[in-house]
Amino acid sequence: MSLDPRPYSRGELLYQGKAKQVYATHDPARIIIHYTDGATAFNGIKKADIADKGVINCRISAFFMEKVAAAGVPVAFERNLDDRDQLCLKVDIIPVEVVVRNVVAGGLAKKLGLPEGQVLSAPLVEHFYKSDSLNDPQINESTAVVLGWAKAWELRAMHEHALRVNSVLKAFWSELNIDLVDFKLEFGRVTVGTATAVVLADEITPDGSRLWERGTGRKLDKDVFRRDLGDLSDTYRELYTRVFGKAV
Ligand SMILES: Nc1ncnc2c1ncn2[C@@H]1O[C@H](COP(=O)(O)OP(=O)(O)O)[C@@H](O)[C@H]1O
Ligand SMILES: [Mg+2]
Repeated sequence: MSLDPRPYSRGELLYQGKAKQVYATHDPARIIIHYTDGATAFNGIKKADIADKGVINCRISAFFMEKVAAAGVPVAFERNLDDRDQLCLKVDIIPVEVVVRNVVAGGLAKKLGLPEGQVLSAPLVEHFYKSDSLNDPQINESTAVVLGWAKAWELRAMHEHALRVNSVLKAFWSELNIDLVDFKLEFGRVTVGTATAVVLADEITPDGSRLWERGTGRKLDKDVFRRDLGDLSDTYRELYTRVFGKAV
């Protein structure tokens, strides 16, 4: 990777997402992910600004990306530049989202008529096609390979990385008396010369995770917003305090 003495700052807006913005930098190999306070649910139908969510998610994601990187998972994240800006390697996002589930909830409960809260006998890895217009439909690995969205070896790497992320996150939350029910990951390709690697990209935040307080089952994630269970800003602040041992 190149060493450039210029400080990194936001350049051209490359992508306006639902919760984040992606900016170019002077370095073509790197982008800045800017975390906004925006929250959406049901593919953008429900929207709100949640005070400090961007700051909280930016710090929580950095914290977990460093943790999983230390456990051997390659990540696009490099470092936080300030409260809401994150320097990352620019990757070619693979349009296949990986969901890991430890406990039945959400879409799985609905689809198979299972009770929310049923503990799975092993982590369940699911795949979804990243497409807002199609509402992220579930697919299998064969669909992804045949339609050219990912190579078989890339899907194997994603699977292995996702399970390692699950082990790290599950153990961390468990120490805080919180059950990691499920979470979503995005991966991308980084090419250096002729070599391509699959790395974990995007975010690890309570926006893309289900976190249930052990014993009470109280939800400490974006379901509070989706299901109108309370004030999401208060929930995220509480989660932040539990993770970092001090208020945001
Ligand atoms: N390291 C990266 N390089 C390039 N694109 C990325 C990287 N990390 C995340 N992205 C993409 O940036 C966007 C982040 O904004 P977000 O608000 O999450 O968007 P979305 O509405 O698509 O979920 C996503 O589309 C994600 O795939
Ligand atoms: Mg997103």
